[in-house]
Amino acid sequence: MSKIFNCCVKKEVSKMESDKTDFIETPELKQNGVCPFSCDKVLDKHVKPNLKIKVPQPLKLKNHLVGEENYDNLHSHLEDVTSFSTKCSEAMCQSSIMDTPSRGDARTTDEIYRDAKSFLHEYFSSIRRQNSEAHISRLQEVERELRASGTYNLKTCELVFGAKLAWRNSTRCIGRIQWKKLQVFHCQEVSTARGMFEALCDHIKYATNRGNIRSAITIFRQRTDAAGAHDYRVWNPQLISYAGYREPDGTVLGDPARVEFTEVCMKLGWKPPRTAWDILPIVVSADGKEPEYFELPREIIMEVHMEHPNYPWFRDLGLRWYALPAVSNMRLDCGGLQFTATAFNGWYMGTEIACRNFCDANRLDILESVAMKMGLDTNSYVSLWKDKALVEVNIAVLHSFHRDNVSIVDHHSASEQFMKHLDNESRSRGGCPSDWIWIVPPMSSSLTAVFHQEMALYYIKPSYDYQEPAWKTHQWKTEGEKPRHRKFHFKQIARAVKFTSKLFSQALSKRIKATILYATETGKSEQYAKELGTIFGHVFNAQVFCMSDYDFFSIEHETLLLIVTSTFGNGEPPANGVDFANHLYQMLYSERKNQDEQNDSAGISKLPTPKTLMRTTSIMTPSIEYKRQLSRMESSKVGSFVEFKRQLTRLESNKSSIAGTSSVENIGPLSNVCYSVFALGSSAYPKFCNFGKTIDRVLEDLGGERLLDVSCGDEMCGLEQQFRTWASDIFHVACETFCLDENDMIKDAKKEFSKIPLTEETVRFGRPDNVPTIKTALENAFKKQLISCTVKENKNLGDVTADRTTVFLDLEANVKLKYEPGDHVGVMACNRKEIVDEVLNRLKGIDNYDKPLQLQLMKETLTPTGAIKTWEKHERIPAVTVRDIFTRFLDITTPPSTKLLKYLATACTDQNEAEYLRILIEDSTKYDDWRHHYYPHLAEVLAAVPTCRPHAALLAALLPPLQPRFYSISSTPLVDPTRIHVTVAVVVYKTQNGEGATHYGVCSTYLQNLTPNSELFVFIRRAPSFYMPQDISVPLILVGPGSGIAPFRGFWHHRRMQAKSSTQKPGPILLFFGARNRGMDLYKDEKQKLLQRGILSKSLLALSREKGESKKHVQALLEDEGEHITRMLTSEGGHFYVCGDCKMAEEVQHKLKAIIKVHANYTDEEVEDFLLSLMDENRYHEDIFGITLRTSIVHNTSRETAKRTRLESGQSIT
Ligand SMILES: Cc1cc2nc3c(=O)[nH]c(=O)nc-3n(C[C@H](O)[C@H](O)[C@H](O)COP(=O)(O)OP(=O)(O)OC[C@H]3O[C@@H](n4cnc5c(N)ncnc54)[C@H](O)[C@@H]3O)c2cc1C
Ligand SMILES: Cc1cc2nc3c(=O)[nH]c(=O)nc-3n(C[C@H](O)[C@H](O)[C@H](O)COP(=O)(O)O)c2cc1C
Repeated sequence: MSKIFNCCVKKEVSKMESDKTDFIETPELKQNGVCPFSCDKVLDKHVKPNLKIKVPQPLKLKNHLVGEENYDNLHSHLEDVTSFSTKCSEAMCQSSIMDTPSRGDARTTDEIYRDAKSFLHEYFSSIRRQNSEAHISRLQEVERELRASGTYNLKTCELVFGAKLAWRNSTRCIGRIQWKKLQVFHCQEVSTARGMFEALCDHIKYATNRGNIRSAITIFRQRTDAAGAHDYRVWNPQLISYAGYREPDGTVLGDPARVEFTEVCMKLGWKPPRTAWDILPIVVSADGKEPEYFELPREIIMEVHMEHPNYPWFRDLGLRWYALPAVSNMRLDCGGLQFTATAFNGWYMGTEIACRNFCDANRLDILESVAMKMGLDTNSYVSLWKDKALVEVNIAVLHSFHRDNVSIVDHHSASEQFMKHLDNESRSRGGCPSDWIWIVPPMSSSLTAVFHQEMALYYIKPSYDYQEPAWKTHQWKTEGEKPRHRKFHFKQIARAVKFTSKLFSQALSKRIKATILYATETGKSEQYAKELGTIFGHVFNAQVFCMSDYDFFSIEHETLLLIVTSTFGNGEPPANGVDFANHLYQMLYSERKNQDEQNDSAGISKLPTPKTLMRTTSIMTPSIEYKRQLSRMESSKVGSFVEFKRQLTRLESNKSSIAGTSSVENIGPLSNVCYSVFALGSSAYPKFCNFGKTIDRVLEDLGGERLLDVSCGDEMCGLEQQFRTWASDIFHVACETFCLDENDMIKDAKKEFSKIPLTEETVRFGRPDNVPTIKTALENAFKKQLISCTVKENKNLGDVTADRTTVFLDLEANVKLKYEPGDHVGVMACNRKEIVDEVLNRLKGIDNYDKPLQLQLMKETLTPTGAIKTWEKHERIPAVTVRDIFTRFLDITTPPSTKLLKYLATACTDQNEAEYLRILIEDSTKYDDWRHHYYPHLAEVLAAVPTCRPHAALLAALLPPLQPRFYSISSTPLVDPTRIHVTVAVVVYKTQNGEGATHYGVCSTYLQNLTPNSELFVFIRRAPSFYMPQDISVPLILVGPGSGIAPFRGFWHHRRMQAKSSTQKPGPILLFFGARNRGMDLYKDEKQKLLQRGILSKSLLALSREKGESKKHVQALLEDEGEHITRMLTSEGGHFYVCGDCKMAEEVQHKLKAIIKVHANYTDEEVEDFLLSLMDENRYHEDIFGITLRTSIVHNTSRETAKRTRLESGQSIT
């Protein structure tokens, strides 16, 4: 990291807009004769200007108000810090001298590479990838690019990081607490002056945001040649500013600071209206070409007219100012590259307008006229008329901005925020380079906290640097020739862009990235996320990722993040969302720990760790956290509590001083990210949509800006419609948030909400290139490596008295398997032959179901020569026979979605049949009732509409994939690593509350019907949170009614094998099993043997429907053993395992809490804490099957509840 070290003095001076060379004598210089920051701590004795010397040690920085000391380590800790240069010497401090703007240096490729290397090191460190393969190959790529072209291009994510860092490093900016919250518009593709102007208009619109100002930067192409002959430049010092005209009498009409630039504009041909408030045109030059100027459309410029809350005459002064301060003449130096055309904005601090623009003697200079109006004596300094008038002008500015709801910050709040920023930076970075002279506000300086704070000034890259005005450096190509006058109104521009090229306009609006992340178990979230990707892709730069494929370290650099996720297990993430969730929880944990340390309250209360967060719903919302902080303080020192309350009140008031912008407390790592979550779930589960809701809150707690409240799609009731409503709402809000106007692309996107994207014309079966084996085809379709197994044994586990069938399968794999007891096996099932045949018989457009065919989709690609149509392979459905597609790849038993019904209606020739389907499509209540009462599979739906003949290829494309089913492994590899055992409860039920057709569970009946030597395909799914402890002496409590016993059979065999080869005594195992009747006491004989061998210490059985016996569930058995269980968990380090249906698991947890409360004599809070610590220590384990047991009861009650809730909340079900 290259840098220049400069010394700094603490002294209030005015910030001059021209060079000033006066020697400034500070109090410290007077006292000690040396500059406090250039003295012996950091410099050798005989320092000469620009001498390179080593920076050795931390620099002590004192706050003179509170007497606290801090150390700046940043300057000495940064890598390759070998030198700094300074303008100051031991004898003279020059730090108040304005920087001389430069043209930037002509850099050799070696120099560029050196800076690039150091920047990329910082970038890859920020995403925890330093020295990774990606880092090394990126460096090689940069080196190659540099060698070939003398420059290289930063990737957008790198530039976003660099631009934020440059803001963070801006020594003069007091508003840096917001540095992470910066929207970066990377305009690498813009190559014309007109393109630059349009991008700058976009910037103004986005940043102004109807007064709720957002920080943003637009960055055009970097310098590409050492001489700067192809530079891009924005000639305006600020994007919006008022012209200044020198009158013949020497006075100035308008803003005196802009006289020179106004003359440049006029020389270029600009014809000004010549009033005091003329907005200057935008002047830009692209690629070193001649500058062009463009009139800014007035409708995108927001101005505030000044009035005073108490002085009516103030309004008559006719003062106004623009809302958006956007500096456009600075150069961004990042990664060795010099971006000569940038426009950056934050929001105003009141004093910038009131003190500097209105009252500086060389600006509007209104002070005396204000003082006169106030009736002050302006003849004597002693009356302090200047100070009094200045305060009133400041009040007027703040008042007028607040009145119009335009963001602004007063200098006191800004100063406090900066102190907080210094503190943050000191903790996270070891220092914060700051220019005291610029940081201290131009009025009431010693009243602000920053005045009393020593600061260290040094310069770090990336940086924003001053540069010479473009009109002084531009190399004119055509001497004397004036560029053409461009005057466009915004609407005209939009029209012109539309006509020139649709592709070009897409490039323009697609600067804003939208990242869509999904996590799914059964594919629904993925399907929705992809649909969302198509919709957003019309307008945004949209990318869809599965959470497990997403580089989560990039999350801080996202702009718009949309999450579509289901919930699995018991309120947990789907498997492919686990790592993402962990990462977010880890981030949150670090943030909270940091906050706790800052508030000096570490250890007062227990923070939920990432592991706990993963397992519970105990995420604290900010308001809960706020209350908790208060109660913590209350219970500690009274003094600090008062101080804390005072701080919070102040922070609240700061919120209003930055009208409408996010609060200063909320500058978390994701403060730049706008987000919304669609959570899929089922209200049949106690933790309804828990994972989506949790992610939503975590994103908020990390500082993200929620665009829409989390939307919960309930599989029990109207899921599809809920998704469509949310998709449409979030699209609308996102367009509004990013100020994207109604245009063709947005209209196209909106069409997506209603149309079926696939039609009989755009889907077909084609000839396959090659035909894979079924195993390869399944592997490709489900992206899983499969294991081929043969059935060695398949037997019924119950006896004749059993009223349900549970089967045991012994499977032999053709390879040695790597698994642990607790893991699951995923089974690729087949649909029942009779249902497949009924469906195939109704298809049209196919004559041979047993010939391999490739499903193909038509793709349309827009090219400069027009749209090209091509046929592409369907990504999920491989080239197999149509019979195999409907047998192994498609889900034909889940009731069809409304989208599918919509198509089936169009495939009916009888209008009554079509109408029957249309009613279901249009009335979501009817659809939900129909779906849950009949739970019809596809063949049954087709039977109800006999004239419906769906097109085979289109139907295949519309159906969801047949998902693998999971089974807990009932064996251990210690017995035989080629064998897997499963315990399968066979699902058979009658629809219509037991009165209708018999339905057979796809996979359980497929498994039940497999005969010895049949082949099937499976894969292993790891479930590390359900593993046994390594130490065999640890006591285990196992609770698993019905097929929930499955993993425990693996456990006891594992313990048995471990005990054989260990000298250690195995710990006790308590087994709680439940069944309807004795005939379903699964593995009865085996359990008996293991009890005899001492592997099982106790095996308890609860019977719920045994004739002549009272009904008992496992929960009651637990109560019987309450004392024993409590001892095992509280003092013997025992592990608790629950397996089976979700409701049961929930009830067991409640019961366990009650037991511990009684036997350990805990309070409610202590029990909660104890359970959390069990989870945290990985001693409480759940393996949830879903709600397959008791399905109909659960379904019906939860559907009723869902309906009721929606009616009560006033939501229409239709
Ligand atoms: C991690 C995990 C581990 C599992 N381990 C095991 C295990 O070890 N042993 C085991 O047997 N199962 C286990 N399961 C459940 C298993 O995966 C399957 O869900 C189960 O076998 C049913 O699948 P299926 O294809 O036979 O039924 P499906 O065709 O999927 O049919 C089940 C669906 O039918 C409907 N349904 C069921 N009963 C009724 C009813 N009475 N009224 C109306 N609708 C009804 C419901 O919508 C239900 O979801 C596990 C599940 C998970 C997630
Ligand atoms: C084993 C299992 C456990 C589930 N657990 C929950 C749960 O705890 N909370 C919930 O709201 N939904 C739960 N669901 C319902 C799913 O979230 C729902 O089916 C969702 O639509 C699946 O979406 P996906 O296909 O994207 O995974 C569970 C479903 C299954 C099969």
